[in-house]
Amino acid sequence: MIDFKLRNSVICDDAINIQKYIGNEEINCLITSPPYYQLRSYDDSDTNELGHEKTVGEYIDKLVNIFLAIKPCMRKDCGIYVNIGDSYNGHRVGYSDPKWKVAKSDSFVKPTQSGIPIKSLCMVPERFALKMIENGFILRSIIIWHKINPVPSSADDRYSNSFEYMYFFTLKKDYYFNQQFTPLKKSSIIRAKYNTFSEKTNEGNFAGIDLEMQHRNSDKINSGEIIGANMKNVWQIATQPCNFMYCENCDTVYIGKERSKIIKKIEEIDGIKVKKNYCLKCNRNDGFVQHFAQFPIKLILTPIKASCPDAVCNKCGTIRKTIYEKQGISSYESIKEINTEQFNSEQGKKQSLRADRECFMRQVVKKNIECNCENKEILPGIVIDPFFGSGTTGRACKFLGRDFVGFEKNPKYAKMAHRVCQESYNQVQKELDL
Ligand SMILES: C[S@@+](CC[C@H](N)C(=O)[O-])C[C@H]1O[C@@H](n2cnc3c(N)ncnc32)[C@H](O)[C@@H]1O
Ligand SMILES: [Zn+2]
Ligand SMILES: [Zn+2]
Repeated sequence: MIDFKLRNSVICDDAINIQKYIGNEEINCLITSPPYYQLRSYDDSDTNELGHEKTVGEYIDKLVNIFLAIKPCMRKDCGIYVNIGDSYNGHRVGYSDPKWKVAKSDSFVKPTQSGIPIKSLCMVPERFALKMIENGFILRSIIIWHKINPVPSSADDRYSNSFEYMYFFTLKKDYYFNQQFTPLKKSSIIRAKYNTFSEKTNEGNFAGIDLEMQHRNSDKINSGEIIGANMKNVWQIATQPCNFMYCENCDTVYIGKERSKIIKKIEEIDGIKVKKNYCLKCNRNDGFVQHFAQFPIKLILTPIKASCPDAVCNKCGTIRKTIYEKQGISSYESIKEINTEQFNSEQGKKQSLRADRECFMRQVVKKNIECNCENKEILPGIVIDPFFGSGTTGRACKFLGRDFVGFEKNPKYAKMAHRVCQESYNQVQKELDL
């Protein structure tokens, strides 16, 4: 942490070599998505590519070894988030993957696993999580990324996949965690205010919570002590197409609307008409780099907010504490439009309960660094992404005022990610539509 030189840089190397670059306990948080098992190739020239092992077991061992290599570089109070997907045994591979075409020119079928029936899911995420636990990582949450717009599947003998896992591990029982809240439902606030969970209406039992507990909760809501519900572990987030194009010849990024500036020409190659993109700056068509496996920025905003502090003392590593004071207006009072008359009628009460609009309690927040270091500089916490890809983690960190460091093995992607992470805060904001 002290004088960490690699803030906001992308290191083009295999993440297994991390200790060459980063010292002990320098990183606050890890957020990543490794190459999935037997899904795609990120570098055709790499004969030892992660994800292309013959067996799931070999893949898991190699992947977990990377996390073990990173472990000493992580602070003991860090949080680790890993988004990882599954694959089917013996599943046919798309013709677009040249590596598998070479490997299996006969049938374009990937190597199959002994011990797993053909067509069965390999349970890659579960095996990975178990191996991490065996190696001492503490699995605190399984987050389900529910894709609200999943890629349509051609399968007609099973259900379409519409979720992926994101595992949340820690190294210790106690760790840094800035609890995240979702707004209380209007119905919860009204129920608290008007005691609508009385013996009569709910027979003293609502959602498995006894009446005494309900009264205690409602007191806390009314006094402002409870400001929201603890965030749940199913997150509905759309997959996101890449919104930028990068020309490696002249190191130019075309982002958002700027993509329309790229000159598109139809050319004939061997009698076939092909659409070619020409870079406005260098006027060449051979430098565009694309990454096909990005995660959405929205998926990683919550992990960054929860697990990477926004301010840390650069001398001793003390994390700034956020103190919430309870003198804000209560959730109930913040719903101005509700008036008590409505509740004189049974119908009015029901309508308001149905409305279920979200609202937050306003509150006073004090932020403080409790250390006595002299001449300290207050700097953001650092998130590492060992499989940096196109740099989504870096862009999200910049947006939220945190620092990052990324490892990316493929030089084209490392160069692209480095460049795109320099893009502005406003651009990410537009992209997120916040
Ligand atoms: C699933 S992608 C990550 C995408 C990224 N989350 C994004 O949003 O752009 C995995 C990346 O890891 C890189 N990679 C694969 N093996 C690696 C290794 N051993 N060390 C560092 N990077 C590696 C690949 O080149 C690929 O870009
Ligand atoms: Zn160019
Ligand atoms: Zn200090």
